[in-house]
Amino acid sequence: MSMPSRVKIVEVGPRDGLQNEKAHVPTKVKVELINKLADAGLSVIEAGSFVSPKWVPQMADTREVFIQSAIRSDVCYPVLVPNLKGLEAAVEAGVQEVAGFAAASETFSQKNTNCTIKESLERQKIVCDEAARCGLRVRGYISVVLGCPYEGEVDPAVVSDVARQLYDMGCYEVSLGDTVGVGTPRRTKDLFEHVAKVVPVENLGGHFHDTYGQAIGNIFASLDVGVSIFDSSIAGLGGCPYSPGATGNVSTEDVLYMLNGMGIETGVDMNKLLVAAEYICEYLERPTSSRAGRALLSKRHLVA
Ligand code: HMG
Ligand code: MG
Repeated sequence: MSMPSRVKIVEVGPRDGLQNEKAHVPTKVKVELINKLADAGLSVIEAGSFVSPKWVPQMADTREVFIQSAIRSDVCYPVLVPNLKGLEAAVEAGVQEVAGFAAASETFSQKNTNCTIKESLERQKIVCDEAARCGLRVRGYISVVLGCPYEGEVDPAVVSDVARQLYDMGCYEVSLGDTVGVGTPRRTKDLFEHVAKVVPVENLGGHFHDTYGQAIGNIFASLDVGVSIFDSSIAGLGGCPYSPGATGNVSTEDVLYMLNGMGIETGVDMNKLLVAAEYICEYLERPTSSRAGRALLSKRHLVA
């Protein structure tokens, strides 16, 4: 399998990036962030999640965020849903695409969704059937594919099995999540090769949290086996509330810097991406976690 010449970046900052923020981020800030990300040329921007507000209070305003965003016809704005109730809320808001999620370890499944893997897949099947009936596309996530914060090692055979089930029930894309960021490139490559035996590699995405600084290496390893879809978060924001100690996703700026350097097309404009990053970092009063973002911004300030 040769390296892809084009990569789709799925921007998860407004959801994965912000879901763990303790202080409420105002709806208008989330909306402005989404609009700036769209201006930067990102074609998929995860706008939020219709999950229980008791479990993830930060996402409680997803309906308003979605409705107030300047929805563009060339951009897809998926939202996360764990069950039929979430899907119904998404349909009511006018969302076109949802993302379901399951896990590759039983303990993580319980902590994140209060049910077994089997039960979460049953819920997901109901979501997929109803989404198909309503004309919505469904993306699927699998968490803890390279290690679980509670159980440690995860068997690639379990990841493959969950991936195949999500794909078979109608998820057009399955994103493999290294929720804890423990994966390293060789294991990442082996995992994708394993899963690609049951789900076409074109339909697999990589979702790497950067806790151990391995995400860029893992993306490079995945590219090498033909993966062409990567999730990332502006300024490297984020973390999963049910993955203690895990930091944000790999930053969109770091991913774009590498892909630009490799001559791989994305359609994303780095300068406009930096505008979005500066905006959210200023609001959160926090420096960016992106290495490339920090370097490029300091260079720009030197030149200016
Ligand atoms: P539960 O408590 O077992 O659910 O939670 P329940 O069916 O018993 O309902 C309890 C209450 O929640 C009820 O309200 C329901 O109406 C309400 P009450 O009667 O108590 O007032 N409820 C909902 N409200 C709004 N939207 C809904 C919904 N469903 C039920 N969809 C549940 C089960 C799945 C709902 C809960 O565990 C949950 O919401 N979990 C989501 C956790 C989450 O969002 N985690 C982060 C996202 S996943 C992630 O970050 C990983 C990823 O990035 C990939 C990676 O990095 O690995 C994708
Ligand atoms: Mg995540």
